Amino acid sequence: MKAHSGRATFDISHTVTGYPWSDIGEGLVVDMGGSIGFASMAISETNPNLKFVVQDQEHIITEEAKAAVPAHLKSRVRLEVHNILNPQHVQADVYFFRWVFHGFTDRYALQVLRALIPVLKRGAKVVINDGVIPDPSTVSWMEYRSMRCMDMLGQAVNNSGERSVDDWNNLFRKADDRFKVLGTWKPPKSAMWFIEAEWQP
Ligand SMILES: C[S@@+](CC[C@H](N)C(=O)[O-])C[C@H]1O[C@@H](n2cnc3c(N)ncnc32)[C@H](O)[C@@H]1O
Repeated sequence: MKAHSGRATFDISHTVTGYPWSDIGEGLVVDMGGSIGFASMAISETNPNLKFVVQDQEHIITEEAKAAVPAHLKSRVRLEVHNILNPQHVQADVYFFRWVFHGFTDRYALQVLRALIPVLKRGAKVVINDGVIPDPSTVSWMEYRSMRCMDMLGQAVNNSGERSVDDWNNLFRKADDRFKVLGTWKPPKSAMWFIEAEWQP
């Protein structure tokens, strides 16, 4: 995983520059399955109006992890334990998932999305930064094979796998028809895509 995610196409800089974070204005982002918060920390460095709550499992959100948040970000990046399969309790502007859904079969991915509904306000966004199985003719041969490898690995290890753009659209539709997918895009030189949906009750 370290070798895989260490490649330039998976660099965190694509997550920082590939989404218009500054358009959120003064807002709260919940970084779900956010590990020890490195994505939130990277985004917060260039977006001083944003605050982040990073949610992950108990063995990840340790006292050491909390202490490692740099002093200048401590007031804006908070780490907490939360099982993302359980109902969300934080009302936010954006619920962000980086490299999380590809580890979940549709059954659990639907549970994660539906667990947000009790706290969603009109216009809240779900922003996913994850793999998409591209059309073979649209990316390089290496990139196509790499995503297919991730897909097979996911199927073998987790019974999950990568999703095509249609699969992502269907996932949101199945979760609840009040989720509207606004767009799917791949930032230049990134292997990971963005899938953005909005809660429109
Ligand atoms: C592949 S890692 C991605 C981590 C990080 N978002 C990134 O971009 O590298 C998946 C993360 O989801 C977390 N996770 C898995 N199941 C979870 C659950 N039920 N509740 C909370 N976090 C969970 C894992 O602990 C892990 O940190």
